Amino acid sequence: MDFGAQYAQLIARRVRECHVYSEIVPSTMPVGEMLAKNPKAIILSGGPSSVYADGAPQAPAELFETGVPTFGICYGFQAMTQALGGTVARTGLSEFGRTEIEVGTDTLLFDGLPAVQNVWMSHGDSVTEAPSGFRATGTTAGAPVAAFENRERGLYGVQFHPEVMHSEHGQAVLRHFLYDAAGCRPTWTMVNIVDEQVERIRAQVGSKRVICGLSGGVDSAVAGALVQRAVGDRLTCVFVDHGLLRKGEAEQVEKDFVAATGAALKVVDAQERFLAALAGVSEPEEKRKIIGREFIRVFEQAAREVVAESGAAGEEVEFLVQGTLYPDVVESGGGTGTANIKSHHNVGGLPDDLQFTLVEPLRELFKDEVRRVGEELGLPPEMVWRQPFPGPGLGIRIIGEVTRERLDVLREADAIARQELSRAGLDRDIWQCPVVLLADVRSVGVQGDGRTYGHPVVLRPVSSEDAMTADWSRLPYDVLATISNRITNEVREINRVTLDVTSKPPGTIEWE
Ligand code: XMP
Repeated sequence: MDFGAQYAQLIARRVRECHVYSEIVPSTMPVGEMLAKNPKAIILSGGPSSVYADGAPQAPAELFETGVPTFGICYGFQAMTQALGGTVARTGLSEFGRTEIEVGTDTLLFDGLPAVQNVWMSHGDSVTEAPSGFRATGTTAGAPVAAFENRERGLYGVQFHPEVMHSEHGQAVLRHFLYDAAGCRPTWTMVNIVDEQVERIRAQVGSKRVICGLSGGVDSAVAGALVQRAVGDRLTCVFVDHGLLRKGEAEQVEKDFVAATGAALKVVDAQERFLAALAGVSEPEEKRKIIGREFIRVFEQAAREVVAESGAAGEEVEFLVQGTLYPDVVESGGGTGTANIKSHHNVGGLPDDLQFTLVEPLRELFKDEVRRVGEELGLPPEMVWRQPFPGPGLGIRIIGEVTRERLDVLREADAIARQELSRAGLDRDIWQCPVVLLADVRSVGVQGDGRTYGHPVVLRPVSSEDAMTADWSRLPYDVLATISNRITNEVREINRVTLDVTSKPPGTIEWE
């Protein structure tokens, strides 16, 4: 149950890392509706509120009568306390960040774990008295009751955030709850996911035809590979080369994807069309809209051709594969009132009036799970582990008008950065590293004995779990130095390399 936590998705992911399937539901979901999902366990997330704030979300008391083992975290722990008659007080002793907790012996959650451990806290109010029938099982300097349990009723809670990396034994605490308190079994494995999805896709698609837009990214590749496994040659993949791709991307899709999956692939060269449509445009949203619109047109045309080429008269493509991930589903469900920061254009993201039925085999998966499914399906590591790349491609990494020359310059610089990050073994440590060309900015340099008047590029290495928030990656200086040397030596138009040291928020990952 999501009480508005920054970490709700992280909790769901940590549960899945225990090989237990999890879903996020809003805290306002009626208990009956939740029970209809037949959960083996319920977790109440943290949240930004004080239980005393006006309109603070409540944990309904009936939830704790259902017999389903339940675990409250942070705000969820306090909401649970309040619903069950314990005391939550404003002690004035806030705790934020790393905190030592002392845990009791003979507790289910902390079984076999050290008596004193570091946990991650973020709370103002504190539980000062556990509800009757509960045993306090942990305490910190600022939280008299930092954990409690009532084994008979299957109810547990902690004030800290077990899902956060900085809670040393957080994952073990979660495992104890899932396995020992709730009797969950670790059956959510990649092999099972693949088998289950293949069955579902077959049931959905029957003997109809399917198309899939490949973007060169992980999600569409894995979605396509799954559908290929399910329906074989009734799938045609379409790859639109809009000219805004990274170096080697088109070739990789053409060679590696086909080799790994045996899927039928149609490549459409639409470079001229996109460049013409983007001529003279610098405004980021306008660029995004143009790219999205042109993509749809090219894709529609390609889909008609696929039908025509398929031979069977009267047969139509009924289904379209989309690489929608679970965070997209959660966000679009929970996004009421959220600001439109950027018009995200998913290559393959098409309007409703296209009249395809969607096949979305990754709807329940997080990015790291998608990667593991990709490995399971035999996609090459370079494809599975590649950095996320936005649908509008290099078009939104050129600050200013997009031209063929500028694209060529940026493509070279980007390829060098990616090569050196891979060589340093950093691919899996960073989330992605956009290289941004400040095409309308010029800077003076000196190369050889001459003055240059070139362009700067910006390196934007970020670490992130889900791209919702990010921090700039502290890359080793020698790696940065090599990237900078190589770019300024090998790409004539670039005479300066700079580093973006902004977290998200306030900066987004991409510059446009
Ligand atoms: P921002 O820039 O919003 O990016 O912090 C978050 C993540 O999304 C990627 N991104 C996109 N992906 N279509 C996509 O498929 C888009 O229009 C788009 N814009 C940004 C970005 O690379 C980062 O991983």
